[in-house]
Amino acid sequence: MKSSKLPFSAAEYTDRRKTLMSNMESGKILLLGNCNASINFEDNYYNFRQDSNFLYYIGINEPNLNAIIDVDKGETILFGDDISIDHIIWMGNQAKLSDQASLAGIERVLSTTSIFDYVDKECHYLPPYRSVHTIQLENYLEIPEIKPSLKLILSIISQRNTKSENEISLLHKATSLTAGMHAEVIKNAKPGMTEYELIGHANKYAWDNNATWSFTPILTRDGQILHNHNYHNKLADGDLILFDGGIEHSSGYAGDMTRTFPINSKYSDIQKSLYNIVKAAHDVARDASKPKTYYKDVHLMAAFEIAKGMTELGFMNGDPEEIVDEGAHAIFFPHGLGHMIGLDVHDMENLGETFVGYDQTIRKSDDFGLKSLRLARPLEAGFAITIEPGIYIIPHLIDLWKSENKHAEFINYEELDKIKNFGGIRIENDYIIREGGAELLGDPLVYDIEGIEKLKSS
Ligand code: GLY
Ligand code: MN
Repeated sequence: MKSSKLPFSAAEYTDRRKTLMSNMESGKILLLGNCNASINFEDNYYNFRQDSNFLYYIGINEPNLNAIIDVDKGETILFGDDISIDHIIWMGNQAKLSDQASLAGIERVLSTTSIFDYVDKECHYLPPYRSVHTIQLENYLEIPEIKPSLKLILSIISQRNTKSENEISLLHKATSLTAGMHAEVIKNAKPGMTEYELIGHANKYAWDNNATWSFTPILTRDGQILHNHNYHNKLADGDLILFDGGIEHSSGYAGDMTRTFPINSKYSDIQKSLYNIVKAAHDVARDASKPKTYYKDVHLMAAFEIAKGMTELGFMNGDPEEIVDEGAHAIFFPHGLGHMIGLDVHDMENLGETFVGYDQTIRKSDDFGLKSLRLARPLEAGFAITIEPGIYIIPHLIDLWKSENKHAEFINYEELDKIKNFGGIRIENDYIIREGGAELLGDPLVYDIEGIEKLKSS
């Protein structure tokens, strides 16, 4: 994510800060940018990733910067230092900070240490997610305890939740690249390969497109492990591969998609049956996602499709509505249907999952399955979301529930024992909510059985 240009115009950054100032009404807002994070010694660091709120309001994608937005004076000050000759020798030159700042509509740039003259204990700031930010806040504000500003959190969420058309076009780019990466992985997958070789194809696609990953990808024949980051399995005939990966576009915007495909180009009968249930759940959820609809209700509609399909196949018994009411479907679908997406793959999750995905009309459930639902509030036009239902056959969970006789009236444990090594299926696409409903972000990538089989053999 490096470019001398900023992704948006100075006017757009200025407008964003104006909106934030008017939401906050008074006081000073302290925005901390990120610094490099060392791997094993100071100068060997992970790829730099700017803080997303800093990117959104200030735009400059460089380490060691902070900003104060003074609401009462209507002014923004950037704090940082131009790099010294020592740095230029090792790292090359970079544009002057004042030139970069003016690209974001910021005219006042002061040295890093001048921040001490401008901060005060009443400053509004966000919850830190890196320990270095905690230390910075304690130093700058001389406070014993971090108390993030709820007003700032809610103001930022209300603004960043709704994507502008310019943001949507960058989301389109991120998701189109994400779709391209998935097609590349699907086409290159062959029996005899190891999972990490396919990760290699995904990585090459990202680098070939001046992009990186928006999160550590999941690529596995053990799709039942929801966030599986091991890539050591050899892939053999009959394996079903779950690839959940996303591209971060050079602007910082994220894509996040999942496809589940057969390594040998043909889904088996049981793979087809379960796949089509997940596809039906995805399609029902997409069609139901529109402004004013609670995403929790959309999640429950997808859960209903899964309960219905698993009942028809004989893995569950009873009325699907009752199954979902009782939460028995969560043995197959233990995660939430989706989340917001934007500059972060789980957009703004560092500000608090419940502030982003819930509102005063809906509280988070403690129930197994529902407690993992990141987004439940009513949808609004301009929200960018993922829809990602799945069916997972999780041996440890099945054994545990069976031993407890849990939901035994709904779950056919005897039939389940026959497919205990099945793995998992997830289908995930990204959407922007419009007045008329959910519109796909990015170039479409097939996700029906025929389409995937055709792509796989192309
Ligand atoms: N794509 C990974 C996740 O949404 O958690
Ligand atoms: Mn996701």
